[in-house]
Amino acid sequence: MTKNVQTVYSYYVEGLLIDTGMRHARNVINDIFAHHQVDRIVLTHHHEDHSGNVAYLMKHFNTHAYAHPLAVDIIKKGYKISPLASLVNGEVERAYIHNLEETPFCTSKYTVHPIYTPGHCNDHYCYFIPEKGWLFSGDIYVADKIKYFVYYEDFGEQIRSLKKLIALDFDSLFCSHNPKTKNGKQHLKNKLQFFEDFYGKTIELHQKGLKPAAILKTLGMKENNFYALITNGNFTAVNMIHAAIKTFEKELNI
Ligand SMILES: [Fe+2]
Repeated sequence: MTKNVQTVYSYYVEGLLIDTGMRHARNVINDIFAHHQVDRIVLTHHHEDHSGNVAYLMKHFNTHAYAHPLAVDIIKKGYKISPLASLVNGEVERAYIHNLEETPFCTSKYTVHPIYTPGHCNDHYCYFIPEKGWLFSGDIYVADKIKYFVYYEDFGEQIRSLKKLIALDFDSLFCSHNPKTKNGKQHLKNKLQFFEDFYGKTIELHQKGLKPAAILKTLGMKENNFYALITNGNFTAVNMIHAAIKTFEKELNI
């Protein structure tokens, strides 16, 4: 577990490390892994609060890391993060990590199933251990109800990913920011229900001709001007409305 301005959880199972925390939490990572051997690293996705120590840990333990092929490409080339993300989390060093397909692999005790779950971003994997009923869910779940979207998040893909995960047999939801050790599946169901209700209401108002700002107001939602300002408009409530409409138009092939 790494702690900074935001709390980010990385998980360690039988020599397997799932995510590596942000660069600015390297002292915490060093403290924890002074006493634990890492045999293999997997990432849920490329974001800097998950991949910020991958290059360092690969070198430190002389081991390999794996992720979705899109994440592999991004981390290999390096990518720019916002000044705010750089301040809060720190930069990500380039690393040569390996493609991970949606094929199960083994630790000394368990079989781990990578589950492709786009929506938060398109290189997102969850990791499922059926023997234990554990789902390591990255950023697919943060809370039952959410109020803001980052501009690149996809509403329809998130709904499809949530349905894919709910079909699995698990109880513990080890997500990266708000883990639920019990009743994890119910939390995913709650989020799915919230998304479906939100989508239905948004599209109904959209079809009546309301603009996104008016839909937001009608749904009783408020913009957080501070978040909007510090993220340069990238993390807003109205992004949820835009994303729902985009999904609707995509599914209608407009
Ligand atoms: Fe993320």
